[in-house]
Amino acid sequence: MEKIDITKQVEWAQKVAKINEGKNLKYAIYTMGCQLNENDSEKLCGMMETMNYCKTEKIEEADLVVFNTCCVRENAEDKLFGKLGEIKKFKETKGTIIAIGGCMMQEKHIVEKLKQSYPFVDIIFGTHTLHKFAEDIYQILINRKRIEDILDIDGEVIEGLPIKREDSVKASVTIMNGCNNFCTYCIVPYVRGRERSRSPRDILDEIQELSKQGYKEIMLLGQNVNSYLRSEKEKGIPFENNLLSKPSVSCQQGYTRSNSESEYEGVNSFATLLRAINEIEGIERIRFISPHPKDFTDDVIEAIRDCDKVCKFVHLPLQSGSTQVLNKMNRKYTKEQYLQLVEKMKQTIPNLTLSTDIIVGFPGETEEDFTDTLDVVKQVGFEQVYMFIYSKRVGTPGAQMPNQVPEATKHERFDRLKRLVESKIAQQNQTYVGTTQKVLIEGKSKNNENMLTGRTDSNKVVVLEGSEELIGQVVPVTIVSEHMWYLKGRKEV
Ligand code: SAH
Ligand code: SF4
Ligand code: F3S
Repeated sequence: MEKIDITKQVEWAQKVAKINEGKNLKYAIYTMGCQLNENDSEKLCGMMETMNYCKTEKIEEADLVVFNTCCVRENAEDKLFGKLGEIKKFKETKGTIIAIGGCMMQEKHIVEKLKQSYPFVDIIFGTHTLHKFAEDIYQILINRKRIEDILDIDGEVIEGLPIKREDSVKASVTIMNGCNNFCTYCIVPYVRGRERSRSPRDILDEIQELSKQGYKEIMLLGQNVNSYLRSEKEKGIPFENNLLSKPSVSCQQGYTRSNSESEYEGVNSFATLLRAINEIEGIERIRFISPHPKDFTDDVIEAIRDCDKVCKFVHLPLQSGSTQVLNKMNRKYTKEQYLQLVEKMKQTIPNLTLSTDIIVGFPGETEEDFTDTLDVVKQVGFEQVYMFIYSKRVGTPGAQMPNQVPEATKHERFDRLKRLVESKIAQQNQTYVGTTQKVLIEGKSKNNENMLTGRTDSNKVVVLEGSEELIGQVVPVTIVSEHMWYLKGRKEV
């Protein structure tokens, strides 16, 4: 676990802060994609704040606009190019600095297109160079010359970047980066590099600190969380291999130096990490995404059962219910193995609920294959299903496969799956009415200022009346009615 020395970055940030002092400069940020990207954006925001930029939601006010991009499906590209067209006028009228980073920037053909058709973009940075954002900004302020800061090699573990979090009750903590699985439809391993895990101590220290700040729920993030530390063990990398092996200290400007220690607090796997976080006082709930079914070992199942703070709600990506399609997807489990795993989990963990991801229209998917997917959905009874239409990604094996499914068939299957999922969710929602749920109150409802919103252990949104003081508390709530995407509740007195 080689860690990057960010001392130089602290200096760049200080220099930029000095240049910007007293100018009342603002930044706007657009984040696409998954929660890992959102967590990266919180770090970008942290860096920009230390450089004397303040956040604005209004793009026309911004002196610096950042896009943190995703490329998991094609529609993200259209979105980015559309937005860029919109902000070109701000560049022309007030010289707004435009920076684009994230997964899409690791795709060569996209960077080429940007350079040719959108030459007004100032900074292009990739997923392995996020920590150098202060340096990129400094260079652009001084030289006004376009910067392309993208690395092809796998990034290392970066610790100590400042962070400005979106929420005050729930916090995301990235525990690993990258992916080694190479599912044949997926671009992520190409743009995020190989798996590398943060050290147990750095993670536990971060969560201790979050607890002190009053955070109640921790969402552990990674592309394959249940293989946490596996790459390091396979490569024989000691958990301690650090450039900055000093105890955690605050540097100026919000950047901190990282800790390092081997096998801290007995953590040497995902299961032991869950157990260690469960001991942290003040934290009430622990969630994680995404685990891979093939790595769902018994020790993880037992840790979920034993740890009172770990939600009894697991996101278990299925992708397809057909063994033949799963095989072509390189998922390394069969329909039967998935169902057996669900059965074992349900038997071991009382009141377990599940959600999943499903792709329809993978190359070669027949009507029979699709029926298998519907069958698994019927059998498992997911609380939530995230459904995607297969999208060809340049450079992935799936894009080269024969028998690509026609668009019309993909859409027709998607609609059938959606109907089934919605009817199952409606049935499931019924079972909540009249029950009392423990709800973590997250804040005011976005649609109605006078209402509060929170979530059950099973991640269902609950809307209820109550005073603001309840925000951040877990309270018993009786569910009075159900709606497709939320439940209405009444706080028990
Ligand atoms: N690492 C996670 C999620 C990665 S991306 C996991 O393995 O579950 C999130 C979801 O996007 C995937 O689970 C998959 O359902 C979907 N997805 C990925 N590539 C896709 C593609 N090319 N077309 C459509 N959906 C895709
Ligand atoms: Fe993509 Fe598969 Fe890795 Fe998930 S596990 S990020 S779907 S390659
Ligand atoms: Fe998208 Fe990158 Fe996440 S491709 S889904 S933002 S890891």
